[in-house]
Amino acid sequence: MTSLGIGLIGTGFMGKCHALAWHAVKGTFGDVPTPRLEILCDLDAEQAKLRADQFGFGRATANWRDVINDPKVDIVSITAPNSDHREMALAALAAGKHVWCEKPMALTLADAEAMAAAAAKAKGRTLLGYNYAQNPAIGHAKRLIEGGEIGRVLHFRGTVDEDYMADGDLPWSWRCRLETAGLGVLGDIMCHLVSIALHLVGPIESVSADIDTAYKRRPVPNEPGKTGEVENEDIAQAVVRFKSGFTGVLAASRVAWGRKNHLAWEVHGSRGNLICDQERMNELQLFTAEGAEGTRGFRTILTGPLHQPYDRFCPAPGHGLGFNDLKVMEAAHFLRVITAQGEPGGETPLIDFARGLYIERVIHGIAESATSGKWVRFVLLFFFCFWSAMAYHPLFFFFCSPKIRGWSAFADHDSKVQWT
Ligand SMILES: NC(=O)c1ccc[n+]([C@@H]2O[C@H](COP(=O)([O-])OP(=O)(O)OC[C@H]3O[C@@H](n4cnc5c(N)ncnc54)[C@H](O)[C@@H]3O)[C@@H](O)[C@H]2O)c1
Repeated sequence: MTSLGIGLIGTGFMGKCHALAWHAVKGTFGDVPTPRLEILCDLDAEQAKLRADQFGFGRATANWRDVINDPKVDIVSITAPNSDHREMALAALAAGKHVWCEKPMALTLADAEAMAAAAAKAKGRTLLGYNYAQNPAIGHAKRLIEGGEIGRVLHFRGTVDEDYMADGDLPWSWRCRLETAGLGVLGDIMCHLVSIALHLVGPIESVSADIDTAYKRRPVPNEPGKTGEVENEDIAQAVVRFKSGFTGVLAASRVAWGRKNHLAWEVHGSRGNLICDQERMNELQLFTAEGAEGTRGFRTILTGPLHQPYDRFCPAPGHGLGFNDLKVMEAAHFLRVITAQGEPGGETPLIDFARGLYIERVIHGIAESATSGKWVRFVLLFFFCFWSAMAYHPLFFFFCSPKIRGWSAFADHDSKVQWT
């Protein structure tokens, strides 16, 4: 497998990010197949052509099915809005393509379930765009936790705040409607926080939550005096219990003035504490209860070549990586997953459609708990446990596809599986 054909759907914020990643991944990593930038799609043919020239794709189209049906395309990058994810992903998987789809997985839980079911049967591999989990600072934190540096995990506390809808006069848009956006802050950014919690400390078993819509109506553009209802949440918070037994708190807001990408978390341990914030993505704060009381304090670890794959980007520590670099890491990861072809011992996807469905269950569970006023438990965990147990049975590999084995890897994550 020396090269793989790439088709890109959508050329906005994430479309450009995927295109840049596909450009950079071979030069940065070296030991991955070469991406061939075959065809790109956006709604407007003229815009698509311009973007194809800019991003270095050979051809352009205004019909996304041209990308899916193109025999030279092996991997489809889906960066169109959430409402299109299900239809595009199902079509791509049916055509035998590998799918790299942006988060959130889909508009509704039912859509996400359909996508996970299709992926379990498909030839192609899947990956979701949970790029923050690729941060070398987070990989290092995971190793420190697993190595016992902060002792037994006692608590996880995470926040994800941005201010992209903090202005109450911001016009009513597709983001405010269930039909076009689905969940509000839960689907937009809480899902990232859940992906990091899962990656670092394992699955969440139950949630009790509340949500709020700070601005219930917003002005309709070009219609003076008219307002539209905001149908989804601006703010969400949840008390959670992890499968391993400890508790956590997750909070998210899209109306937090001054916060730009405050995707921040703390893991409290019996002998120390770890803190990280995506706004300072090259830093990890570590406190260990060692030394004389008066000299103790958090120390800042600047990421560097020892925190792989930082070394693939830069030989000098503390010089800093950026947001787009996380996508390059994600592209390399997906290429390695595809190359491994599900062989035992090969690289398994960090968050494929099976694991992505779990994240969807958590964010929809938060919305459900807020509505019902009751705790929501994730019964799927029992399903994970079943697969986990089965994975140790020698006959398991004879009747289980590599994609379904991904479920077991997730269930067993606490003890064995490195997601990166
Ligand atoms: N991983 C991350 O950190 C991250 C960050 C931002 C957005 N996202 C996700 O990426 C996706 C896209 O968000 P964005 O911010 O790039 O949006 P965007 O509006 O900037 O870009 C979307 C693009 O898709 C195109 N498009 C829409 N419908 C299409 C169709 N039917 N066929 C082809 N092209 C179509 C639009 O014209 C536009 O160019 C969303 O699912 C979003 O949640 C992920």
